[in-house]
Amino acid sequence: MSMPKVIFVLGAPGAGKGTQCQKIVENFGYMHLSAGDLLREERAKPGSQYGELIESYIQEGKIVPVEITCSLLENAMKKSNRDKFLIDGFPRNQNNLDGWNKAVAKNVKLLFVLFFDCPKEVACVERCLDRGAAGSGRSDDNMQSLEKRFNTYITETQPIIKYYEERGLVRNVDANKAPDDVFDDVKKIFDNINAGGDF
Ligand code: C5P
Ligand code: MG
Repeated sequence: MSMPKVIFVLGAPGAGKGTQCQKIVENFGYMHLSAGDLLREERAKPGSQYGELIESYIQEGKIVPVEITCSLLENAMKKSNRDKFLIDGFPRNQNNLDGWNKAVAKNVKLLFVLFFDCPKEVACVERCLDRGAAGSGRSDDNMQSLEKRFNTYITETQPIIKYYEERGLVRNVDANKAPDDVFDDVKKIFDNINAGGDF
């Protein structure tokens, strides 16, 4: 049996990771696993051992210890019986990367890191605030949490993107456009995989 294939999806808060993953799922048959969504789901489980910890990390825009996130991801992968995954919002910091490399990396094939590059932080902040105002229900789509989330992104996540860049694994997409226009570029990357161009 061949190893499951994984694509990491990274980008600033509000860069459009979830929106684009949805479109990739519809067009290319990947399974979408959002680390943030899995953490929010775990938080919502009655009696979850980690509920309070997760909520405090999310409100503070901090990255939850990898043991929790990685086991949520691994369980979701196993349970799915699928073999192509978009892992969205992970690895977000060095602790995430180390935990993944230790526990999972050898059992999967990392194809590349899809990076949604949204240079205008303002655009991303606006998107998150709009999402909050439109009723996302997220306790971190407010200005106070957003500042912390951006800070974490710059100090902790950007070095991870750089780490993968140095290994030639980053596929860059300009995310400072309308969703359908962004997807035109995303589509080219996935069409290229299907044509056997990338691997
Ligand atoms: O990706 P998303 O914006 O949904 O993530 C929301 C929050 O979930 C992050 O700000 C962080 O607190 C938490 N998270 C995490 N570790 C990850 C992904 C998300 O702690 N790998
Ligand atoms: Mg998301």
